[in-house]
Amino acid sequence: MTRPASDLDGFRLWPGLLDRAAQEALRDEVFARMRAGPLYIPRMPKSGQPMRVRMTNFGPLGWVTDKERGYRYQPTHPETGKPWPDMPPQALALWRELSGYGAEPEACLVNLYEGDARMGLHVDSDEEAWDAPVLSISLGDTAIFRIGGALRSDPTRSVRLASGDVCLLGGAARRAYHGVDRILPGTSRLLPKGGRINLTLRRVTVPG
Ligand code: SIN
Ligand code: FE2
Repeated sequence: MTRPASDLDGFRLWPGLLDRAAQEALRDEVFARMRAGPLYIPRMPKSGQPMRVRMTNFGPLGWVTDKERGYRYQPTHPETGKPWPDMPPQALALWRELSGYGAEPEACLVNLYEGDARMGLHVDSDEEAWDAPVLSISLGDTAIFRIGGALRSDPTRSVRLASGDVCLLGGAARRAYHGVDRILPGTSRLLPKGGRINLTLRRVTVPG
């Protein structure tokens, strides 16, 4: 197994784990699936305020949010009503190699950051399988990622996530507040229109 470059409280980062060819192959698998499961604008519960990122999902379950029903996982795309496309094989292989978890991921959330899109501090907490880590794969422009502790008021640190970087939120970091402050435009040529795609793989239900 690949040795992580850093390991602090369950946050692991493998910088440049995917070389350019691997990034292009994964990008193409993602774009192909977006034809069947297009990006949509997620909306915050209650307020209905649009999020800054556009989203879709791959795999048996997908994370969605809208004004009426809020945050949840569901097996179908909210706009097409069809099942989500399957997970890119490379993403599944990374989960098997790096997660240390004895069951398959069920959701691959796709976030597209364009322009000044960012994501506020939050904890991923809609999964029943709390013992499973979240595996994150970055493609395209570099993100200024922020991660803190279990309380919103805990100190945070900033980590650059570049194209091809893979990171894992496990252990204490699984319950840590995290978000994306901003994207650095022009730092990668992987995506034809620029911006950043982040894939996060999650186990949702308790296995067995
Ligand atoms: C997320 O927390 O869902 C996304 C994190 C990222 O874009 O790196
Ligand atoms: Fe998250």
